[in-house]
Amino acid sequence: MDFETVKDLSSKYLFPNYGRLDLAFERGEGCYLYDAKGKQYLDTVAGIAVCSLGYSHPDWVKAMRDQVSHLVHVSNLYYVEEQAQLAQRLNTVTPDAITRTLFVNSGAEANEGAMKTAVRYTKRHKVLSAYNGFHGRTSAALGATAQKKYQETFEPLINEKTFGYFEYNDLESVKSLIDRDTACLLIEGIQGEGGVVCGTPEFLRGVRDLCTDYGVLMIVDEVQTGVGRTGKWWCMDNYGIVPDIITTAKGLAAGMPIGAIMTTDEIASVMTPGTHGTTFGGNPLVCASGCAVIDIINRNHILDNVSTVGAAWKKDLEALKAKHPGKIKDVRGMGFIIGVEMDSEETAAGVRKYMADHQVLVNVAHGKTVRLIPPLIFTMEQKDEFMRAFTAALE
Ligand SMILES: Cc1ncc(COP(=O)(O)O)c(C=O)c1O
Repeated sequence: MDFETVKDLSSKYLFPNYGRLDLAFERGEGCYLYDAKGKQYLDTVAGIAVCSLGYSHPDWVKAMRDQVSHLVHVSNLYYVEEQAQLAQRLNTVTPDAITRTLFVNSGAEANEGAMKTAVRYTKRHKVLSAYNGFHGRTSAALGATAQKKYQETFEPLINEKTFGYFEYNDLESVKSLIDRDTACLLIEGIQGEGGVVCGTPEFLRGVRDLCTDYGVLMIVDEVQTGVGRTGKWWCMDNYGIVPDIITTAKGLAAGMPIGAIMTTDEIASVMTPGTHGTTFGGNPLVCASGCAVIDIINRNHILDNVSTVGAAWKKDLEALKAKHPGKIKDVRGMGFIIGVEMDSEETAAGVRKYMADHQVLVNVAHGKTVRLIPPLIFTMEQKDEFMRAFTAALE
């Protein structure tokens, strides 16, 4: 279908809730996307940190073909082999204390499930989270489910007095809010949507200690930073912090919709039959995809690639910042989540447009930060290709 037809049909039949660029893609291979005319684009967006293995990775395609040909979906009414296998694999890449997983369909759902788990485990009602953070956009499904059996024990979560917000990287702000009514504190190691703002080690470790002191569950939202994006399996591994609950989603199934809530035996034990669930969560196809992702990352030493190319990329960007201090205000991040803060929203939008016109896709987060979140297989040569286009865009 030609682009104009896609655009016309979209304007006519879809909700107008997304602001889209004038682009549509027909296929992808490695770190490149191709439009209907065969024009090639280098992709540093990866479907917003989702396409961890890039596009059409041959081993992943094979695993998906095998799975589709024998079983796509059953139900959590039965045991699901692929779900058990993915949970077992996650157990090998998470901290020792994190042993159990509940699969859902998205990042927002993972966070919802994590908060429900914390409220049930602690029997407390308050939830703390940071200003400038992002945890998803669901809000009201449980509130609208007017059946006592689903709402009871979670009622505090759907009460407007539930949430308290602290300043990120400000431990005093957390201290002023945390108390023995607090069930959990939900936090990102790097605020991705917030413009790639990194938590300092002192702050994150201080938060861990405060949570322990007050019996508050520390939920680390690794929806964007998890599954190798920072060069370690989990962003918190860079700080030696073990959360009580880890949530993840985006990169885990390389493009299949998945979310996961991971925690300890003890915390998971409160989620008895009937307390939580979802129809599609952890179906055979998405879990086979997750297994393939973990196996391919391990087999091909992809985390090493993220660390090496990511560090070189940050160095190149810092050198460019030294040349253009008026336009680049800051370079932040680690591995393959790098934010380049521009001097204004106009500059960031101009860079994104110039790059797209020159066949390189970049994303802008929080107005003026160019956010680089490519597939984890992005190579040194592709980093150089990006830098040539980015330098030209600035000049
Ligand atoms: C840190 C973080 N948490 C949660 C979400 C929500 O995930 P989803 O869009 O899959 O619901 C996102 C999405 O960007 C995210 O970056």
